[in-house]
Amino acid sequence: MSSHGRRPIIIDTDPGQDDAVAILFALGASDRLDLRAITTVAGNVPLSLTAKNARIVLGWANRTDIPVYAGCPRPLVREPVTAEHVHGETGLAGVPLEEPKVELANGHAVDFLIKALVNAWPTTITLCLLGPMTNLAAALVQEPKIRRGIKEVVLMGGGYHVKGNVTPTAEFNVYADPEAAAVVFGSGIPIVVLPLDVTHQALSTKERVSRLEDLGNRAGGLIAAILRSQGLIESKQMATDGGPLHDPTVIAYLLQPSLFSGRMVNVTVETRGEFTLGETVVDWRGVTNRAANALWLNQVDSNSFYELLTDTVKRLP
Ligand code: RIB
Ligand code: CA
Repeated sequence: MSSHGRRPIIIDTDPGQDDAVAILFALGASDRLDLRAITTVAGNVPLSLTAKNARIVLGWANRTDIPVYAGCPRPLVREPVTAEHVHGETGLAGVPLEEPKVELANGHAVDFLIKALVNAWPTTITLCLLGPMTNLAAALVQEPKIRRGIKEVVLMGGGYHVKGNVTPTAEFNVYADPEAAAVVFGSGIPIVVLPLDVTHQALSTKERVSRLEDLGNRAGGLIAAILRSQGLIESKQMATDGGPLHDPTVIAYLLQPSLFSGRMVNVTVETRGEFTLGETVVDWRGVTNRAANALWLNQVDSNSFYELLTDTVKRLP
């Protein structure tokens, strides 16, 4: 049941610079999105930091009323991989950090997800996955009944027309825990994918970053600083003005799905490849008999995306 017509969401995340922007984006749209909780996972940086950073970001928006749960400290099977080279040792490079103002919520994120989703009205909760999918996969294994409470999973991950970023064929969120991604894509839950195909069209150009900074509020200044820092690495690698903006595309899809287009496809995750581990094998042309299991978005109106982001975060402190 949505509260006052707002869409109930849970964000599962590994903040992470772009994760932080996505969380602020969702909070700026609090008239439309009811952020029930944030669950954190090991990913860009270790869990101790992702769980800390999520609380810091909520403090930036004066929303420490939203509970943050710590989840899985490592992938289901493999050894952890991290991305400090992009996000910095803290996970939030580019901005000054103070200690979180609140403690973590009690209990493990997986247990929270199970309780929240089993007790939810059928098909009411949207899960926004912004990092490795370990928490949701663990929850699905522990309690398959959680599927009933989920409206859809909207996730940033994978790549097809744009193959990979952490390896030539794999995107970080899937590569960091390919077995978890395989569990999620094999779950039968409605899934919408914001892959590198889309995020690489949404470049944080100087002009777009300046418009965010010119908002004059704290959120705009923090987001501009984060995008300048995160863009440094990928814009050099890609020789572009600005870098791709990944996780906030999930929130934009919730708010204005018409900005995106794609098609229903089968997505299978490579969990054994020597050179292709973590590849999202997308049957874009329907040449296999594998049933479609995800809406794979491959186009975005990037100007309108940044306008939506800017118009939304201007409502924040
Ligand atoms: O490949 C991009 C994804 O990996 C984003 O979610 C970023 O935060 C990192 O987790
Ligand atoms: Ca992330």
